[in-house]
Amino acid sequence: MSYSLNNKKTLRGDLTIPPDKSLSHRAVMFNSIAQGEARISNFLMGEDCLSTISVLRKLGVNIVVDGNNVFTYGKGIESLTPPQEILDVGNSGTTIRLMSGILAGRDFKCVLDGDSSIRKRPMNRIIKPLNMMGANISAKNNNENAPIEFNGGNLLDLEYDLPVASAQLKSSLILAGIRSKNGIKIKEKDTSRDHTERLLSNMGADINVDGLNITVKPSLIESRDIIVPGDISSAAFWMVAGSIHNDSEIMIRNVGINETRAGIISVLNRMGASLEFSNKMDYSGEPACDILVKSSNLKGTNISGKEIPLLIDEIPIIALAAVFAEGETLITDAEELRFKESDRISLTVNWMKDAGAKVEEFQDGMKITGTNYLGGGTFSSHGDHRLAMTLGIASLISQESITINDHEASNVSYPGFWENLNNLG
Ligand code: S3P
Repeated sequence: MSYSLNNKKTLRGDLTIPPDKSLSHRAVMFNSIAQGEARISNFLMGEDCLSTISVLRKLGVNIVVDGNNVFTYGKGIESLTPPQEILDVGNSGTTIRLMSGILAGRDFKCVLDGDSSIRKRPMNRIIKPLNMMGANISAKNNNENAPIEFNGGNLLDLEYDLPVASAQLKSSLILAGIRSKNGIKIKEKDTSRDHTERLLSNMGADINVDGLNITVKPSLIESRDIIVPGDISSAAFWMVAGSIHNDSEIMIRNVGINETRAGIISVLNRMGASLEFSNKMDYSGEPACDILVKSSNLKGTNISGKEIPLLIDEIPIIALAAVFAEGETLITDAEELRFKESDRISLTVNWMKDAGAKVEEFQDGMKITGTNYLGGGTFSSHGDHRLAMTLGIASLISQESITINDHEASNVSYPGFWENLNNLG
């Protein structure tokens, strides 16, 4: 379906954003393999996290969904049972990669598969180290693409330097590590989101983090009740909308601000955004707060290196902010963006160019020259939730109307996005 939108004269609102996607996946996965019952409150009922629940149920876990709450009845780390059918992860990279760590070396066969986007995404980054540990995993195209087959094996140990700064890869190995005979030692390339280390440690796993070095010993884990804060990656759309629109004031409630996710805040601050933080809270070991964003005059900036993993999902919306910033914004070291739900470098550069922005594409990023101008047109999300929503925010400020094909892709991470956008007055 497609959706057409015109710009708005003012942006005013008080928004409660959806629960964090990364934390919702982890809360239900880890509690499903822990011992004991747990209540996960404010769980994200987006398509990706529902795929995780469906996969865990096929593995014999009893999970009850009641409104925005999820109840798990975990029976311990070895308790999963052989599934009767293929485990379908839909569009969810976090599900396929983290579940691979949970399924590696089990004493039954099973297959993880997903949609056409998942089948294109690189999987050997997890299969290779899991097989080095002793799992017997294979996949299409020299172990690069789903479907992924699990054929038993015996997890022993691993010492490994991660070739990419990826929380999905790191988490997959940590999950295999707690079930391995002797544990694992891994080294991150750069710091990536640390939700897995925090939550598993809180559940009793023996995990030691020393800078980029992570040691995981064989561990049993106990269930924990968890309250999920709002998703900073969803809040990012309103932080940028409020910053680039010339008459805005938007309150965004309960935003998770774990520093391994908060690169967008540093970047917007550097660009001169007006962000006010209040009401700091702790959500089951994760910091959160309310953020008030107001109109501002942004300046261009450089984003590269260690900062990239801290804002990897926010680059499409940061690129839009850069169109309305004075001077140049240079984004480099971000080649990973080509391996997300879509090739987010080329699709972002292409739609922005077609809408009249001044953008240059690099293999590992882009350069945007601020012109304070976007025209309009018809653009596709290409089934990518973050592109669909970036186009939605662009429509609030573009000169002419923007029509978005396949706008419902946003449901993967942000059910209710278009209602929130329409309600901003
Ligand atoms: C995620 C990690 C990131 C991110 C994805 C969610 C996670 O992927 O892009 O949306 O929950 O661990 P990578 O770890 O592959 O960079």
